[in-house]
Amino acid sequence: MSESFPSIRMRRLRQNSAFRRLFSETHVLPAQLVLPMFVREGLSEPSPIPSMPGVMQHSIDSLRSAASEAARLGLGGIMLFGVPESRDATGSGATDPAGILNVATRAVASEVGDALVVQTDLCLDEFTDHGHCGVLAPDGSVDNDATLVRYQEAAVVQADAGSQLLGLSGMMDGQVGAVRAALDDAGHVETAVLAYSAKYASAFYGPFREAVESTLKGDRRTYQLDPANRRQGLREAALDIAEGADVVMVKPAGGYLDVVADLAAMSPVPVWAYQVSGEYSLLEAAASRGWVDRRRAIVESVLGIRRAGADAVMTYWAAELAAWIIDGGIE
Ligand code: PBG
Repeated sequence: MSESFPSIRMRRLRQNSAFRRLFSETHVLPAQLVLPMFVREGLSEPSPIPSMPGVMQHSIDSLRSAASEAARLGLGGIMLFGVPESRDATGSGATDPAGILNVATRAVASEVGDALVVQTDLCLDEFTDHGHCGVLAPDGSVDNDATLVRYQEAAVVQADAGSQLLGLSGMMDGQVGAVRAALDDAGHVETAVLAYSAKYASAFYGPFREAVESTLKGDRRTYQLDPANRRQGLREAALDIAEGADVVMVKPAGGYLDVVADLAAMSPVPVWAYQVSGEYSLLEAAASRGWVDRRRAIVESVLGIRRAGADAVMTYWAAELAAWIIDGGIE
């Protein structure tokens, strides 16, 4: 009689919360989360970003206190983005020790010490008047090798300011090797490099561009990856690893979990994924209409990125998620 009934019963391991907890394959710890933060020159109060409800452009003071809150929650790190008051063709603000990002880095590094890893975006796009991630050639194209020199200068200034991990997000060829060499020459051998290796030309960066008041016209498709390409993402990462990257990253995360999984299977260095502004804002928008359960959808989205193989996740929900984890878990 029992022959027609299953003897293998997968539901045994799901029968109650104790079973489910014991057999959960993937966990999220606060230490595996990195919070991206924006700091805007000239602010005395934090200013909300309309396209990213719940996310602020910080003043130096509010950034400082949000950074110590992040440390208190046990986050792995924070990634700082600067929004300057004025911009120019070469993105001078990025290499000016008195530029907003470098000033903020100094303030935050002295505030949090070694409680978490202070990281900075190493790119020119927030500082150029044309909004591209590099400097332009006379014909208007983005000049790869001239940009590398600017990245080398920015790297040393950021390390001098106290950044411990530089996020190379510009997608110029050779950027990891160029920056590593400049850091070593300047004696910054301890400063680590996070390569945004598989960074796709994505519509999901839309809200971020509002957050940094981007002036970009056109797109970044001559340097960021074509969303159709998986192999190229892996090859970019392999090159970055060969050039000395300490960490490689896939960005965005949600739509690129195949790339995360492939990279996790082959990478000898840690693999991170960046759950970007559009991923954040889409979910927040749906949740605000009651179309998804906000907390469960956030947890599921980050769990999916970890399950695909990311060792750590950059997410705008990092602090809130850490608070949930501390406060009884996210089952
Ligand atoms: C470039 C940079 C971007 C993001 C992080 N670094 C924007 C871009 O490439 O256009 C996007 C992050 C997000 O959307 O959350 N410095």
